[in-house]
Amino acid sequence: ASTRATSVSISGDISSQLHAGYSHPLARSWQAERQLTKEMLIYPLFVTDNPDEETPIPSLPNQYRRGLNRLVPFLTPLVRKGLRSVMLFGVPLNPNAKDPLGTAADDPSGPVIQAIRLLRAQFPNLYITVDVCLCEYTSHGHCGILCDDGSLNNTQSVERISDVALAYALAGAHCVAPSDMNDGRVRAIKLKLIEAGISHQVLLMSYAAKFSGSLYGPFRDAAGSAPSFGDRKCYQLPPGGRGLARRAIVRDVAEGADIIMVKPASNFLDIISDAKELAKDMPIAAYQVSGEYAMIHAAAKAGVFDLKEMAFESTQGILRAGAGIVISYFTPDFLDWLST
Ligand code: PBG
Ligand code: ZN
Repeated sequence: ASTRATSVSISGDISSQLHAGYSHPLARSWQAERQLTKEMLIYPLFVTDNPDEETPIPSLPNQYRRGLNRLVPFLTPLVRKGLRSVMLFGVPLNPNAKDPLGTAADDPSGPVIQAIRLLRAQFPNLYITVDVCLCEYTSHGHCGILCDDGSLNNTQSVERISDVALAYALAGAHCVAPSDMNDGRVRAIKLKLIEAGISHQVLLMSYAAKFSGSLYGPFRDAAGSAPSFGDRKCYQLPPGGRGLARRAIVRDVAEGADIIMVKPASNFLDIISDAKELAKDMPIAAYQVSGEYAMIHAAAKAGVFDLKEMAFESTQGILRAGAGIVISYFTPDFLDWLST
């Protein structure tokens, strides 16, 4: 008994003893404020105007551009595994589809509006989110309508983008998510939804803090939406601009956003945490973008780490920072990984 007594004598503060709290896998899971669940995941989908298309995107491993006829067969097993939500992106491949005004964005016979109707009819429990932007549909590839000098015409862009959002909502989208970054578009969309009498049923998710940078390359390959000249630095936020992001978040809350999104995710965890603080009564979404997904795949392929381990680590960081919704190309993988 005397040897026992000496072996437990601890010189420092008893609060130094932490290991007990995470010695068991279940106890480790209790240490997280939020655990990834299937309900948190939104899966981005690229929908083309060629109905039978199913083309892999080289820079985005395991992701495809799909035509309307391919969507239901592809999604059926995912919905069975617990897929709750998708985010639609239109990819017009018809060479005549693009013009300076992005006219094809709300074409009732275009892929997005057709896909909204199809998925609403086929999958009654699937939540349909739609990205709202013009860059996939404009001949110049910018996210709005341009002035003569090549800069964005904010007034015309907001007018057009809010019309497009309304068209998606009227077609049955549960959620519209403007990613264009024109000033005032959240307010304009909200007002049109109110005017149309559907604002109580359509959620407005703002890409409030969307930063410019190198991480959207694979997406622009997938969507054919790279700008034909210049870049997006005058409307997407500068990566160092934490104050600007905070102002954009506060503004979009005031303009009627229902969810605030931060994008990209892993390089901007401080912004996710700012969003959680500034919009503390709202859900916060984070978009793990194409470049983040492609980087994790490339590093796993190079033997740097295990793909699944890193996919979970990346989302743990995103959830810990404050997000409760994750838009991710890993969604089909997570549906498998979270089932086992
Ligand atoms: C369209 C849009 C983009 C993304 C989402 N909506 C591309 C861009 O802004 O250039 C990026 C998503 C990704 O990289 O996965 N504005
Ligand atoms: Zn855009």
